[in-house]
Amino acid sequence: MCGIIGYIGKQPATPIIMDGLKRMEYRGYDSAGLAIIQSDSIACHKKEGKLGNLQAELAKYDLVGSVGIGHTRWATHGKPSDVNAHPHNDCREEIYLIHNGIIENYHDIKTALSAKGHTFYSATDTEVLVHLIEEHHKTLPFEEAFITALNEVVGTYGVVAISSKEPNKMMAARLGSPMILGIIGDGEYIVASDVAAIMKHTREVVYLNDGEVCVLTEGGYEIKDLKAQAVQHTIQQVDWDFTQAQKQGYPHFMLKEIHEQPDVLMNALRGRVKQEEGLAHMRGFLEQAERLQDTKRVIIVAMGTALYAGQVGEYMIEEYAGIPVEVESAAEFRYRKPVIDEHTTVIAISQSGETADLIAAVKESKLKGALVLGLVNVVGSTIAREVHAGAYCHAGPEIGVASTKAFMAQLTMLALVTLHLGRQRGMSVVMGQRIAKELLAMPEKIKQIFAQEKAIAKLAKEYSQYHDFFFLGRKYNYAIAYEGALKLKEVSYLHAEGYGAGDLKHGPIALIDEQFPSVVIVPQDSVYEKVLSNLQEIKARSGRVLAIATEGDTHVADIADDVIYIPKTLEMLTPLLAVVPLQLFAYYVADTLGRDIDQPRNLAKSVTVE
Ligand code: G6P
Repeated sequence: MCGIIGYIGKQPATPIIMDGLKRMEYRGYDSAGLAIIQSDSIACHKKEGKLGNLQAELAKYDLVGSVGIGHTRWATHGKPSDVNAHPHNDCREEIYLIHNGIIENYHDIKTALSAKGHTFYSATDTEVLVHLIEEHHKTLPFEEAFITALNEVVGTYGVVAISSKEPNKMMAARLGSPMILGIIGDGEYIVASDVAAIMKHTREVVYLNDGEVCVLTEGGYEIKDLKAQAVQHTIQQVDWDFTQAQKQGYPHFMLKEIHEQPDVLMNALRGRVKQEEGLAHMRGFLEQAERLQDTKRVIIVAMGTALYAGQVGEYMIEEYAGIPVEVESAAEFRYRKPVIDEHTTVIAISQSGETADLIAAVKESKLKGALVLGLVNVVGSTIAREVHAGAYCHAGPEIGVASTKAFMAQLTMLALVTLHLGRQRGMSVVMGQRIAKELLAMPEKIKQIFAQEKAIAKLAKEYSQYHDFFFLGRKYNYAIAYEGALKLKEVSYLHAEGYGAGDLKHGPIALIDEQFPSVVIVPQDSVYEKVLSNLQEIKARSGRVLAIATEGDTHVADIADDVIYIPKTLEMLTPLLAVVPLQLFAYYVADTLGRDIDQPRNLAKSVTVE
C-alpha cells in the first residue's frame, strides 16, 4: 500500500526520494508525487500511474533542495489522479504532507474548516489534515500545530509534513501505520514506511510506536508522544539481506521467489528442528513456555494467503497436538465478540507484520487475556513487536505482491508449531522423528517439482484460453485449493474459485461444462478415493481436469486430462508440495496473458488500512 519517504540532510533530496519510492513500488500503488523545499517555497509534482510518469515530469525541472518528501499512493478516498496524489498542501501552499491510513472524521473537519474559509481541491481524506495543520499554524509554531492537529483526528496515519516557513524541519508521526526513522549520520535522516526505502543509506533505525511523533532537523532528532513529552528510544540494527530484493536474472520477482522456496524452507527449519529427538525448538516461545503448555484452545488469525496457511495449520495442530483450533479472518475477528480466556492462544500469521486488521485482532486478543504468538516475516514490524512471543519466518524480503515464499515459510512454521505442541502432549518420539525427517527432505522434493516447470508452463499456456476455473481439494489440501485459486486471480485476473472437492456437488457443479476447467489436488492420502470420485463427477459433465497427483499414480492419469506430479510425503506435509505447481501455473498463465505479474492491478502487498 502507500509508500512514504522523507529526507532531511545535506545531499540533494530528489534522487534519494525517487530511489526510495522505487524500492517501495512492490507494495502496490496507482500514483506518485514529491515535494522539495526550495529556498523560500516548496516545489511539488504529482502524477497518476507508475513512477516513470513522475520521473518524466521531474526531468523538466531543476529541483535543488536537501529536504523533501515523497509518496506512492494506493487510492482509498478519491480515484487515482494527479490531483488526488500526495503530497497535499494547504491553502497558502506553505505546508506539504504525505499520509498513509484513513482520517475517519475527515468530513466533520472539512465542514468546520470550510466554514473558516479553507478551500479544498481533492477528494481525499488526507487533504483535511494539511488544512487542519495550517489552521493551527496561524497561531502556533509548525511542530505544535502538527501535534495539535494529530490530536484532533480520528483514524490511522503514518504521516510526514514539511513547511516552507520552517524549512529546516520535518515532522513525522504514526498511529496504526508503520513509520521508521533511519539515522544516516548527524543531521541526516530518512523516515519511511518501509525499511526497503532506508536500507541503501543506513542500517541504524528507530521503529516509531503508535502515538509517537518524530521531529527532525539538521541539528538532530527528537521523539515525542502526542502530548509533546519526550520519549526514549533505542536504535536497532536491521540485518536483512537486501541483495535478495533484486531479480537476479529472473524476469519477475514472483518466479524468483517461487524458486527460492527450498532455501526458504531450510531457513525456517534451521536451528529449530531436531530430528533425533523428534522435536522443534522454538526459542522465541521460551518466555511464554508455561502458558503455551497450558493452552486449551488455539485461534489462528490472519488475512489473505496467510489465512490459508492458518487453515492448513488448523488441521495439523488438531490432528497431531489434539488442541481445538479455530481459524478466522482478522477482519471478522476484530468486530465480533470472540470467546477468549487465559487458556486461549491466539496465533497471528503475517508476512508484512503490518496488516491493519491483524494488528487490531492482536490488540483485542491481548486485551481479552489470551496468549498471543506471532509467526511474522518482517523483522521489527508492528505485529512482531506487539505479540507476547513469536518466531520469525525467515523468508527474506518478499517483493512480488502475490505471496509465494512467505506462504511456504508460514506452512513450515505451522508444521514446527505442531511438532512443538504435539510433543508436549500425546505425540510419540517416533512420530516426531518422522515429521522432522520429512520436513528436512522437503527442499529436495520441491526441487523435483521444478524439474517439471517447462511442462507446467506449456499447460498454463493452454489453460490461459479459459475464463473460469475451479480449484478443488480436500482435508489438508482444502485450503491449498483456495490458495491456488487466489494466486491465479491475483496475477492473471481470470475468474477462479477455490472449493472443497466434496462441496462441489452442492451447487457449484452446475457451472461445469467444457469451457469451465478444474484443477484438482488429488495426492495419495487418506481422502484419495473420495477426491477421485469428485474428479469423476467433473469428467462425467465434460469438464476438463488438471490433476495434481502423487508421483507414480497412473490411475489418475487415465481419468484426468492433464497431470502434474508431486513427490510422496506425509499427508500433513502435502500442502507444501501441492502449492508449488499451483504457483507456477498461476505465474505462467499470467505471463502468457502479459499481465503485470509483480504489481497486479488494484492489489497492495501490505494492507495497512481496514
Ligand atoms: C494482502 C496481500 C496478500 C497477503 C495479505 C496478508 O492482501 O496482497 O498477499 O496474503 O495481504 O498480508 P500479510 O502481510 O499480513 O501476510
